[in-house]
Amino acid sequence: MSGKKKGPRQIRVAIFASGAGSNAEKIITSSRSGVALIVCNKPGAGVLSIAAKAGIPSLLIEKERFFNGDHYLPELKEQQIDFIVLAGFLWKLPPALIKAYPGRIINIHPALLPKFGGKGMYGHHVHEAVISAGETESGISIHYVDELYDHGKIIFQATCRVDKTDTPDSLAKKIHELEHRHYPRVIAELLQK
Ligand code: GRF
Repeated sequence: MSGKKKGPRQIRVAIFASGAGSNAEKIITSSRSGVALIVCNKPGAGVLSIAAKAGIPSLLIEKERFFNGDHYLPELKEQQIDFIVLAGFLWKLPPALIKAYPGRIINIHPALLPKFGGKGMYGHHVHEAVISAGETESGISIHYVDELYDHGKIIFQATCRVDKTDTPDSLAKKIHELEHRHYPRVIAELLQK
């Protein structure tokens, strides 16, 4: 025995992502969050290289088992995952997974919910809809995940201007900046609670 007192175990986070993974990268490199696993449904997605570079194990999941099998709960349990962060994950979570992590799954949405959310509202579709609606403001919403798309209780929102000259691409850039600035911090604060 070393005689050293053991502190409380660090909360182990799994990030679920389907794409480039720029948010995942920011969360991983913000030293305050213990990211233990990356879960991805897209072979070849950028987030898998980010995980490999950071030395974090990744789990490539397949549709049938995720929705109709054991939802990969055994792997999450084996990795002792306490908290799930969705960062550009494009599949709706099965109810059994949500039940297994009550109040411990969050998502980031690239608009000001409840507007511009729901099925089909992801990526450039969101920014196109915001611009076509003539909105002068957009932003990000970090929220708990429930069984409906983009519906759970909102934890944090931040806004940016939509200028007349904005295109879906330029707006996406502004939104990504907001996401990178706030998501790692909001996660760290939630994990401290
Ligand atoms: C983000 O804009 C996020 O709001 C949305 O998907 C995008 C993921 O981007 N849910 P990245 O893969 O983190 O770069």
